[in-house]
Amino acid sequence: MHDSQEGPAQEFVVVANRLPVDVSVDEDGTISWIRAPGGLVTALAPMMRSGGGAWVGWSGSADLELDPFTDDGIAMTPVPLSAAEIEEFYEGFSNATLWPLYHDVIVDPEYHREWWSVYRTVNERFAAAAAAVAAPGATVWVQDYQLQLVPALLRSARPDLHIGFFLHIPFPPMELFGQLPWRHQVLEGLLGSDLIGFQRSGDAANFLRSVRRFTAHPVRGQNVSITTPFANPGRTIRAGAFPISLDSKAFNQLANRPETIERARQIRRDLGDPQVLLLGVDRLDYTKGIRHRIKAFGEMLAEGAIGNGEAVLVQVASPSREQVAEYVQLRSEVEEMVGRINGDHAEIGRPVIHYLHHSYPAEEMAAMFRAADVVLVTALRDGMNLVAKEYVAARSDLDGVLVLSEFAGAADELTSALQVNPHDIEGMKTTILSAMRMPREQRRRRMRALRRRVLTNDVAHWARSFLTALAHQGGLNQAPLPGSRTDVEARDD
Ligand code: G6P
Repeated sequence: MHDSQEGPAQEFVVVANRLPVDVSVDEDGTISWIRAPGGLVTALAPMMRSGGGAWVGWSGSADLELDPFTDDGIAMTPVPLSAAEIEEFYEGFSNATLWPLYHDVIVDPEYHREWWSVYRTVNERFAAAAAAVAAPGATVWVQDYQLQLVPALLRSARPDLHIGFFLHIPFPPMELFGQLPWRHQVLEGLLGSDLIGFQRSGDAANFLRSVRRFTAHPVRGQNVSITTPFANPGRTIRAGAFPISLDSKAFNQLANRPETIERARQIRRDLGDPQVLLLGVDRLDYTKGIRHRIKAFGEMLAEGAIGNGEAVLVQVASPSREQVAEYVQLRSEVEEMVGRINGDHAEIGRPVIHYLHHSYPAEEMAAMFRAADVVLVTALRDGMNLVAKEYVAARSDLDGVLVLSEFAGAADELTSALQVNPHDIEGMKTTILSAMRMPREQRRRRMRALRRRVLTNDVAHWARSFLTALAHQGGLNQAPLPGSRTDVEARDD
């Protein structure tokens, strides 16, 4: 299935920190690839398969020099990272500096000059790999906070390319972004793009305010102008909102399979057929508000708002970034809370919280969504949150209630969810109770409105809107300026 190949020049190139496959190396050195979990892969893979193209990214393992290969119609171009680079670029600058800074400093970002220097080196490597596979005039789409310097690096190597960038996580308010010692370099890196996409219009606005404050480039509306005194073309970069989604029709179908529906029934039976099944599904990340949600649930049990045996909470917390200190600490805090609440309220064979520190295949997730009466998405800050959209896509039976944090990007679109401020524990308890007690007619009405949104604005729509806007903007930036030699020749023809 995996042909090793040099690879022809590609018209469409995605550059992301991770390849959409994870490598695994056996003891005898045999290499195999497995589909990697994560929103981005789910989002782009269907389009890459149908349209063809190359994907430049890291395999997920240290110190592996891997040849390019083709998987499922996508030309994979692995970028190696050494163990030290994983520590300083991935765990360090990406996930202990940028991640907390961009998520409203929920935990303190760490600023280390050494991490920054490795971030730059690794971004140069990704840019060089993309420059090497892209055909003349190709479209290159760079993804996420790990690779913010790639657009400018790529433009200086390959001015012929159309370059787009999409930030999957929030862009913080200028007052927070201003903390970053390398704020100017990051903005200039992003401004190598023709089009910069964000999840919400608020993120784009935050970015434009930072450009205005920390660079000299003029900003007008959604556009930033870059004028250079020597080179012919000035460029206009557009910053706008392109809320990401999932392959909602495929997920809808998966959730509708008879075996998924049967599995959903089985899950409820295994849980002791509770009256109400509450579900949380997250990477184990401090941005997700897992502790806040468990605290609210624990208090509802302690105060008797939830009766004995009335409800169970299933919390799927998939392992994530396990070498980063804040994640290690979060894990022990969550596990201690779960242990204490179960200690107080569980009976033999009947825990009140089922805590699952695993990730599951899509089939099992669809069954869990189908089984859940209420899904709790209580992120303190989240770029989009595709779990919220997956739940909606899974409920063709029009049942189920979504409780959704107003701090998740999805809140802009999913206005028929019950929205909460996860910092307000009392408010969250009241909302969870309304979700549990919501009359059937209201559940149907809300779910129908949510589904209309999620099924129409699917991932194909997201990719299409972004790429259409990119083609337009890239075209404008490469049009000859009036009076330039090419322009005069063109008119003479
Ligand atoms: C978020 C980020 C992605 C990242 C994913 C998983 O969704 O926006 O860029 O790939 O989390 O995190 P990981 O650190 O495992 O790649």
